[in-house]
Amino acid sequence: MFFIAPDYFVSKVSLAVTTHLMNTYSRQPLAFTHGEGVWLWSTDGKKYLDGLAGIAVNGLGHNHPKLVKAICDQAARLIHTSNLFGVVEQEALATRLCELSGMQEAFFCNSGAEANEAAIKLAKYYGYKKGIENAKIIVMERAWHGRTLATLAATDSPKAKVGFGDLPGGFVRVPYRDFAAIEKAKAENPEIQAILMEVLQGEGGINVAEIEYLKELRKLCDANGWLLMIDEVQSGIGRTGEWFGYQHAGILPDVITLAKGLGSGVPIGACLAAGKAAGVMGPGTHGTTFGGGPLVCAAAMATLQTMDEDKLLANANEMGHLIRAVLTRELAGVAGVKEVRGRGLMIGLELWKPCAELVALGREKGLIINVTRDNVVRLLPPLIINKEESEMLAMGVAALVKEFLAQ
Ligand SMILES: Cc1ncc(COP(=O)(O)O)c(C=O)c1O
Repeated sequence: MFFIAPDYFVSKVSLAVTTHLMNTYSRQPLAFTHGEGVWLWSTDGKKYLDGLAGIAVNGLGHNHPKLVKAICDQAARLIHTSNLFGVVEQEALATRLCELSGMQEAFFCNSGAEANEAAIKLAKYYGYKKGIENAKIIVMERAWHGRTLATLAATDSPKAKVGFGDLPGGFVRVPYRDFAAIEKAKAENPEIQAILMEVLQGEGGINVAEIEYLKELRKLCDANGWLLMIDEVQSGIGRTGEWFGYQHAGILPDVITLAKGLGSGVPIGACLAAGKAAGVMGPGTHGTTFGGGPLVCAAAMATLQTMDEDKLLANANEMGHLIRAVLTRELAGVAGVKEVRGRGLMIGLELWKPCAELVALGREKGLIINVTRDNVVRLLPPLIINKEESEMLAMGVAALVKEFLAQ
């Protein structure tokens, strides 16, 4: 049974003309009224296979009954009280996330950028408590950490920075997966107190850090008293086939940040700390009005519980292998295809030339896909995707790419 959108949500004007919205997005001429599992229906009644999951958000797919029930039940009980009081749902969620991640404490906020802001402040404050007035943080080339001023400074996207003047300083950028570059940065910057990085870069083009490199970073941080801070905003909550991407390397970071998949679509972010990063922040050092409210925490708890019950980590692994295998098989020997890569259901298909048009071509064929860094097709389907749907997605994308490259 589908929810029918009220009339005022079904746009009667051209979707390209969004006159009363601030013009921060080049939106596709498409909007949806409802979804079910990995499927979405547009305002003109067309059905789409969702290979993007709201940019790695809708892990449970659309309209999952357990999530819907948890949100409705919580909304009927209590929606918001503020962090001036205890929030039992927040306590429960922090406990569960710490069990899953090996972390010790959590700060809840409303987005990935906010989670990274909290991590950046934590690293600065960690340094301050050690007597370093302006602690520095190592960040990576091709990193994406958000669009607030500090997270934009940590992000490596010259295009996104144009026009915003002097961004907060204190970041030292090094090439991704280059251990020697970090050693060099260390020699030049005695104020370094932390590394902030993605174990698998999403916006940066689905770039996977080697297990050995991650282990070496852990050792380096231990040896220098630095915090290893892993941005799991995109790769976390089962996306790569483990709860968190760093778990593939068997390491434990000092700080992790989460958002996207955590609330399955309700806005929640989190910054978790362990070891020497735990206990750094005190009352008054950071805060938020909405963060960790009862409604979003209930949705996040339902997400984690459903992922367990429905064995979605195993499914992400299995379906990820399947999609990559089909893409590799179908595109073998096709000139213009560079590489298929990724972990779990975080999949990249790199071409030798820019391919942004594939998004519109996919749309015409009923496929929602994404292209990042100009020439990488990015697939982030819901974690509930089944075998038949995975094959449909991979075959559909392979056909699109062949058609595109043959032009
Ligand atoms: C790794 C990573 N960190 C942070 C962010 C920012 O998250 P948000 O858009 O929720 O602020 C993103 C968003 O794409 C991301 O991929």
